[in-house]
Order: sequence, then structure tokens, then C-alpha cells
Amino acid sequence: MKQTYYSPKAFASLLGISKTSLLDGEAAGKFPKPEIVNDMRRYSPQDIPNYLKILKKKPLVPTKRRQLFLNFKGGTGKTSVSAFYAFRLSQLGMKVLLIDLDPQGHLTQCLGIDHSDFEHTLYNVLIERMDIKETILDTPVANLKLIPANLNLSPVEIALTSVNARETRLKKSLASIQDDYDVIIMDASPSIGLLNLNGILASTELFVPVLADFLSYHGLKILFETISTIEEDFDFLFNNIRVFINHYNASHNICLRAKEALEKHYKDYLMDTIIRQDTKMAEAASLGLPLHQYAPTSRGAVDIDGFIKEVFDPLPINL
Ligand SMILES: Nc1ncnc2c1ncn2[C@@H]1O[C@H](COP(=O)(O)OP(=O)(O)OP(=O)(O)O)[C@@H](O)[C@H]1O
Ligand SMILES: [Mg+2]
Repeated sequence: MKQTYYSPKAFASLLGISKTSLLDGEAAGKFPKPEIVNDMRRYSPQDIPNYLKILKKKPLVPTKRRQLFLNFKGGTGKTSVSAFYAFRLSQLGMKVLLIDLDPQGHLTQCLGIDHSDFEHTLYNVLIERMDIKETILDTPVANLKLIPANLNLSPVEIALTSVNARETRLKKSLASIQDDYDVIIMDASPSIGLLNLNGILASTELFVPVLADFLSYHGLKILFETISTIEEDFDFLFNNIRVFINHYNASHNICLRAKEALEKHYKDYLMDTIIRQDTKMAEAASLGLPLHQYAPTSRGAVDIDGFIKEVFDPLPINL
């Protein structure tokens, strides 16, 4: 994973202005002077919020967001989509924290981070009351941070059963760092347990990736029942629940039929954006590279951009 830099043309286009206005604005002192490396101007994603302010546009993220990718069914794309989406948001200038809630540590690996590169996981925070800031890792990308996971996190389920306020410990810890991030994104494991319950109660938005097949469709019913019981028991309500189809292949009849069933029964939750099947996604994940770095023009990358436009509508930049 590496830091993104924009050329003057790409940066101006993102801001919705011409390259000439950008360069003239710099000469006139309206915009700050960019970094010059090898005689070339380069612009960083972290500078975008400041440029938006100067251009009197809306901020990228007017209210802080806490988002959870969850599905009790395995292999629906929680990890890959959340990792690629988070990286892309950071490329667009948002301050992003990713949290790996799965002791298998797939999200951590998906970002190319090795198990030996970190000591602490949420176990230390939720059970030993370590300051959550001590578990946050820097990544090669300035505005993307990660709370990683590995098998050290797995005893957390049992350990949580015997502590006080066992369901809301993550929420409480996140409150202390929320101001540092525009978006906090959590990747859950495919299970029902106390760690995922902590993830749910710590979030304001839920993303449910589903495959366009009938097993996923039936699994959704259980997921929705569980969520509504939790909402009732804990007097809690998601601001938003979004179901999206991943791994979609329009040439498969089963995909078309499952999509129709989802449109019929989950109309209020189903996103317009569909993430198509794309081998580049699997390749990027296995190489530990973000999709927008590995294959920025791939189908998957285009679909994730569509996903971002839908979630952050209206976005004050041009994607
Ligand atoms: N749109 C896609 N096109 C092609 N392959 C995909 C796509 N989305 C995910 N995959 C691949 O499918 C597999 C499962 O994805 P992923 O690990 O993200 O799912 P998950 O929901 O996190 O799984 P788990 O429930 O085990 O945590 C991975 O090999 C991933 O690379
Ligand atoms: Mg996963």
C-alpha cells in the first residue's frame, strides 16, 4: 500500500475546477503552494478538505460516521469491500479508521500488514482497558489508520462474558477517538457473538453485503430478525441499514433471479449500487494491495466509486 499523490490535472478535476484555475489560484495566493518533487507539483489527499473550504464547498463529511460491515454468512465480501472502500475514502481526503473485528485478521492481511507488525488488538482494549489509541497502527497512507487483529483477539468472546457493560465497551472506547476521524469502518466476522454485538452498538450505519444467490437471501431474514431484536433490547437504532449485492454476474440466471427477489423483499434497504464479480478484487486482496492502487480502472474499482457516491451523496468532489 502506498500514499497517493495527485497531478495538477487530476487534483483540479477532483475539485471540479480547471487546471488553469488551480494554477492561477496558486499564483494569486488563493490556494496554498503544493509540494514540488522532481520539478513536479504534487497534491496530497489530506489537502482536499482545505481546498474545499477555500472553494466554499461543503465539507467531505459533515457528520462523523461509524459504519459496520456485517453478515453472519461467510464469504460475502465484508472484508474486501470494507478494505478497498476505506482506502478509496482516504484517497478522497477523508480521515479513516478501519477496525478489524475478526480474529482471523483478514482485513489486516488485506491491507498488507503482517501479524508480527503489531502487539495489541481490541482484546487489550475491551478486556484489559488499554487506551484504544495504543492499538491504532499507522499505515503507509497518511489519513488511513488501522486497529488490527490476529488470533490474540479470539479469547475476547469468552472474556467478555464475565465483565461489566460487556456489550458497549467498544462504543465507549470509540467515543474517545471519534473526533480524530471522519469515518470509522468496522469489518465483522461471520458470527453472532459479543464482539459483533459490540460492533453493532458502536455503529450508526450497517452495510450488509450479499451474494446474488438464494442461500444469501434466506440468511438475510435471520440477520434482520437478529438486528431488530438487538435494536429493541438495547433501545438502539441504526441511522441506516444498507444491503448491497456483491460478486454479481449478470450472465448467471441465478444472479438475476436472486436480485429480483432482493428488490422485491428488501426494497427499502437495497442499494442501487451493485458490485460486480471482478477477479482483480480477489487478486488485490491476496496481494495485500488496495484495489484502487492495484487496478484503478477495474470494474470493482468503478463499482466502489459508485458505492461511495451513493453513501456520501452529495459528495462535494468529482469522482
Ligand atoms: N466482487 C468480487 N469479485 C470477485 N471476488 C470477490 C469479490 N468480492 C469478494 N471476492 C472474493 O471472495 C472471497 C471472500 O471475500 P471476503 O473475504 O471479503 O468475504 P468476507 O465476507 O469478509 O468473508 P468472511 O465471512 O470469511 O469474513 C475473497 O477471496 C475475495 O477476494
Ligand atoms: Mg471477512
